[in-house]
Amino acid sequence: MATLTRVCGIVGYVGHRQALDVVLDGLRRLEYRGYDSAGVAMLDGAGGLAVERAAGALSNLEGKLAGQDGSRFTATSGMGHTRWATHGAPTDRNAHPHRDAAGKVAVVHNGIIENFAALRAELETSGVEMASETDTETAAHLVAAAYASGPTAGELTASVCAVARRLEGAFTLLVTHADEPDKIVAARRSSPLVVGVGDGENFLASDVAAFIEHTRDAVELGQDQVVTIDRGGYRVTDFDGAEVQAKPFTVDWDLSAAEKGGHDYFMLKEIEEQPEALENTLRGHFVNGGIVLDEQRMTEQDLRDIDKVFVVACGTAYHSGLLAKYAIEHWCRIPVEVELASEFRYRDPVLGRDTLVVAISQSGETADTLEAVRHARTQRARVLAICNTNGAQIPRESDAVLYTHAGPEIGVAATKTFLAQITANYLVGLALAQARGTKYSDEVAREFEELAAMPQAVRQTLSTVDQVRTLGRELADSKAVLFLGRHVGYPVALEGALKLKELAYMHAEGFAAGELKHGPIALIEDRLPVVVVMPSAKGRALLHSKMLSNIREIQARGARTVVIAEEGDEAVRPFADELIEIPAVATLLQPLVSTVPLQVLAAEIARARGYDVDKPRNLAKSVTVE
Ligand code: AGP
Ligand code: GLU
Repeated sequence: MATLTRVCGIVGYVGHRQALDVVLDGLRRLEYRGYDSAGVAMLDGAGGLAVERAAGALSNLEGKLAGQDGSRFTATSGMGHTRWATHGAPTDRNAHPHRDAAGKVAVVHNGIIENFAALRAELETSGVEMASETDTETAAHLVAAAYASGPTAGELTASVCAVARRLEGAFTLLVTHADEPDKIVAARRSSPLVVGVGDGENFLASDVAAFIEHTRDAVELGQDQVVTIDRGGYRVTDFDGAEVQAKPFTVDWDLSAAEKGGHDYFMLKEIEEQPEALENTLRGHFVNGGIVLDEQRMTEQDLRDIDKVFVVACGTAYHSGLLAKYAIEHWCRIPVEVELASEFRYRDPVLGRDTLVVAISQSGETADTLEAVRHARTQRARVLAICNTNGAQIPRESDAVLYTHAGPEIGVAATKTFLAQITANYLVGLALAQARGTKYSDEVAREFEELAAMPQAVRQTLSTVDQVRTLGRELADSKAVLFLGRHVGYPVALEGALKLKELAYMHAEGFAAGELKHGPIALIEDRLPVVVVMPSAKGRALLHSKMLSNIREIQARGARTVVIAEEGDEAVRPFADELIEIPAVATLLQPLVSTVPLQVLAAEIARARGYDVDKPRNLAKSVTVE
């Protein structure tokens, strides 16, 4: 089964049981996907559509439902959603399901409707009043209109097909209409959706974990397909309504493996999700030949006036920030300093109106980074946030925001959000270059195209997983591991070492390879594993030859060399005790592929040592104390 970036949780049910129970149970299984809000829509069969929604965790919704009675409790069809907000704050108002004005159509959605602004404007012109800030709500109004009149009038499946054809972006949409109460229609493009096939009951969900208590017979939907379920069965078509043959499969995972996409740990699933995480980060940020941010409260002139950039972040986010420096200085010719957020405000940095502070944070709640942002603002600097969590504190206090859209990350060790942050940093670099005119628009377009090819390169890199896992088991008893890199390979070495420390509790250090001879080389002893990230032989010939010398130096002193190098790098082969080959990509983009084996290595060593990969000791996913 293909792995897709999981964003929110969706469940739909038509059958003979109490739908509310089935849906809430399913949502509980999917709650790890998003917890900004939860909501349900129940169809009572007599033309009634009951909707209940609540911001926050699923338990808030359950609290709201407790003690109530009404048709929603007798309904045998309905659907539910846990949200991971992308458009609009995580409030009650923005919680799904969203409805049309008459309250007859209900929609839940996973993903992003990229052309929602145009659709919204069109709807508003025709007199529709929006009840939320979400992109999703547009779909509810469009389906209602398609159902009300025109060629698809009175036909829910045909109406959903017609609307799906108009939507751009990524979506799984589940749609119900009060006039067709025993039916749910779903459309899918680039977001996950599976059908669970039962006896006199059928299910829809973002993943099988939601229904495997009830059935193990499932059907996977392809790209751009629509499925209609009722009590008797399911029917799949393309967006034009032509019937297609869907692929049935049997789920043989247990519940806990199902949540983790068949892996024993979320982290491994998240490593595999990286290509889709990058696709989602890039989506919607290159429009009409230019880079656009998600929120922009700065003028073009403000961007042009910037004469200094500080990047502030912690941990993995800091490592991604180190890479921002290479890209922004190279593309924009502005000096960039990268600083640990916890150090930044205590040393009185020189800041002013023309300073841009880029704050990078997966959670958007890290206290060190938040305080750095606040300090920068008191000094009148502008702040641009790169964040994975919509509506978090750091983006709220910033002048511009670029969301990474990598989906929720459950593993405490950051993986997919690191790759997404690097990608976002490069988008910021291109946006600045564009505003300042240091790159022509065709150059910006070319760089974006190279970025857009990276999900495929990362996918290719995932083919090294088995080799790296075997190596991980071999290295599990090592006392320490060193990581070496040069240029953009240096932050990758730091990140590889951090992953190993936090997951495997093993001593690990990342070094700039050229710095080795100034001290750290004294650490090399017989059989000490040293992981080397090789620069490209073609793109960076000089660095490549220097790195070859560095490998020779450590090999001569007995190190066991694990070399990560571009395919076809024959020169390095004689110096590699283990050679891990990654696809050849542009220099600045190499970290997106070279990091992947290092993540897998750390996870596998931790596993071999018997540690909990998702919850390493002493750590928290977001650190809200200074
Ligand atoms: C990464 O594996 C770590 N768990 C940690 O370094 C993390 O990157 C750091 O705490 C920053 O978190 P943030 O991105 O949520 O701000
Ligand atoms: N884009 C939609 C929203 O922000 C759906 C998000 C999701 O996948 O949960 O509401």
